[in-house]
Amino acid sequence: SFEKSLRPIQLHEYIGQDKIKDNLKVFIEAAKYREEALDHVLLYGPPGLGKTTLATIIANEMGVNIRTTAGPAIERPGDLAAILTALEPGDVLFIDEIHRLPRAIEEVLYPAMEDYCLDIVIGKGPSARSVRLDLPPFTLVGATTRAGSVSAPLRDRFGVLSRLEYYEVEQLKDIVERTATVLQIGIEELASWEIARRSRGTPRIANRLLRRVRDFAQVKGDGMITKELADNSLELLQVDRLGLDHIDHKLLLGMIHKFKGGPVGLETIAATIGEEAHTIEDVYEPYLLQIGFLQRTPRGRSVTHLVYDHLNIKPE
Ligand code: ADE
Repeated sequence: SFEKSLRPIQLHEYIGQDKIKDNLKVFIEAAKYREEALDHVLLYGPPGLGKTTLATIIANEMGVNIRTTAGPAIERPGDLAAILTALEPGDVLFIDEIHRLPRAIEEVLYPAMEDYCLDIVIGKGPSARSVRLDLPPFTLVGATTRAGSVSAPLRDRFGVLSRLEYYEVEQLKDIVERTATVLQIGIEELASWEIARRSRGTPRIANRLLRRVRDFAQVKGDGMITKELADNSLELLQVDRLGLDHIDHKLLLGMIHKFKGGPVGLETIAATIGEEAHTIEDVYEPYLLQIGFLQRTPRGRSVTHLVYDHLNIKPE
């Protein structure tokens, strides 16, 4: 059908990440010209910036199937072998959270990535022997929120490494408008800007806020998302002017009131506010660092003066 899908399916529909898009376009065209599988691609960056969407677009632009799995889902070498041997030539294998692949699985992946083959051990003890299995050429697209947690030997086997950046407000506004069109939501331009400003540089958050604001528009209003309705709804959703939510507030206020603004260790903050240290590190902290609200020091995290201004608190 010619209906637009919510997720962009072609590269030209994907808003933002221009450098990554421009490069991928060349690599895809070249691989197609040579009738080869695209080289392996590692996508990294904070959650919600569109890594899965890009993987799907890559497969679509290459005209191949995509098989999707995640690091923690592959427990034994046989799990990976089953996936790899079922691929068709040129297919994309997308492994999300690739930094969480068990080490033993990584080692199966190396010859698969380098030579499209699989070394499997048959039998046990003295009679065990190794057989080499040929695989179809394929493209591994790996995604991770932490490039630093991907082992060096695995990272080195990717031909394309792309770091996704937080989006500009203007790009998020375009994304909000695109989603509103697809979902047939009426929204004023100023309301799109407001949602974009409060989305922490993240399309997934922008699209989530748009849906929640639409709920308010349909129940409390006449369905149209005006600037005023967006402002009121976002206030009820506890999303502040910069897009910080109640967990960001709890984190920052906890650091100020319990630790004089820091420095304080990640585990200590996590325990005080009752959140997982990993969640803080992967989801909350990167944006707070990006906007200069947090600093990392050798002795832990500290809040900056910007936090006191934003929360209207006097530094001690
Ligand atoms: N929806 C989510 N992310 C998007 C992007 N980068 N471009 C277009 N639509 C999107």
